Amino acid sequence: MSTATQLRASLVDRLTEDGTLTDPGWHSAARAVPHELFTPSYFLPVAGNVPNSYRPVREGEPGWLEGVYSDETLITQLDGRTRPDDVTEGTVAGSPSSSSTLPSLVLRMWHQLGAEAGHRVLEIGTGTGYSTALGAHRLGGTNLTSVEYDPVVGTAAAAALKAAGFAPRLIIGDGLRGDPDGGPYDRLIATCSVRHVPLPWLHQVKPGGRILATLSGWSYAHALVLLDVTGPGEATGRFLPGYTSFMIARPHDRPPRPALALLPGEERPSLIDPAKLEDWTGGWVAQLAAPSAERLGAGAEQILWDVSTGSQARTAPSPDGGWTVVQRGPVRLWDRVEQAIQHWQAAGEPHQEEFGITVSATGQRVWLGTEDGPGWNLPI
Ligand SMILES: C[S@@+](CC[C@H](N)C(=O)[O-])C[C@H]1O[C@@H](n2cnc3c(N)ncnc32)[C@H](O)[C@@H]1O
Repeated sequence: MSTATQLRASLVDRLTEDGTLTDPGWHSAARAVPHELFTPSYFLPVAGNVPNSYRPVREGEPGWLEGVYSDETLITQLDGRTRPDDVTEGTVAGSPSSSSTLPSLVLRMWHQLGAEAGHRVLEIGTGTGYSTALGAHRLGGTNLTSVEYDPVVGTAAAAALKAAGFAPRLIIGDGLRGDPDGGPYDRLIATCSVRHVPLPWLHQVKPGGRILATLSGWSYAHALVLLDVTGPGEATGRFLPGYTSFMIARPHDRPPRPALALLPGEERPSLIDPAKLEDWTGGWVAQLAAPSAERLGAGAEQILWDVSTGSQARTAPSPDGGWTVVQRGPVRLWDRVEQAIQHWQAAGEPHQEEFGITVSATGQRVWLGTEDGPGWNLPI
């Protein structure tokens, strides 16, 4: 047995023991797909560096194959352009724009999607092609279509899939448009995140079909949701347990902003502890309430900045043990966040799995508890 086969078998054993791999079809896909063909080089973060910097690891270098089978996300592109092979020496700073997602998450999502033999599936975010290969092994290449935005990434994935012996349908284009010519689909899975559920997806997946996607936004909060499509353009869903995040779909990314300049405004006491925004679900609730804002700052000193309107909110601890907030601009960002966090606190600060979403012709509303509970409309 080659070293790669041994390392793969032991990763699959670990994922079986921890309950990730329960379905025999996904188990044999995980045993069969040679991950190393999809990650001939990748970046590893250099510990402790701010801003983040990375060093390339290439096929054949010490630790390369162990990294491939480490159940970690392997970054394969920075800033929409730099690939590991572009860095000939030293390290490079940048922001991840493509990766091979950690195998346990990819496999968990394939299980959650409930895709079965015979289903036609649309994947958004081919990346390295690793998750596509798993899907093609389980479902057959003719039933799987995958869309990748970045032509360089998509071309490399196509070559790796071919080398591994898989032939799914591959599209290079904007996955937010889905696959206008290929529907209807039974399932759609996204491995990049979105600010709202793109309307084309809701028309290309059949009623009775499912969409599994991560919702994110400009304040770096994420939530994985499984939607049942109930009619053309309509769906309902619940958010899932755990802590799943994906890089945002490129056209949904935040607008560029100038260097931070804190401006004067109206000051008042804050009714909530600003550090609640650092909680996984608390930060997401804040993002739902102020989706046009980017969150900066930390702890008691949070900063929300909506560059399109110039609205800002910033908090600080006050001498009495509480907190103050200074707000300016037409959108009172903290008023919105404060009210949303108070609803969440009144419900006992539950995890995202206590939330759901209703998508209809009139909008996309995330709610807490039940459909008639407190809710927030997603920006469309
Ligand atoms: C986390 S990676 C995908 C991981 C991949 N499934 C794997 O297993 O290797 C996210 C990918 O989504 C792609 N992406 C971003 N925006 C997109 C869009 N609008 N349409 C399609 N792909 C997109 C990125 O270029 C990136 O390759």
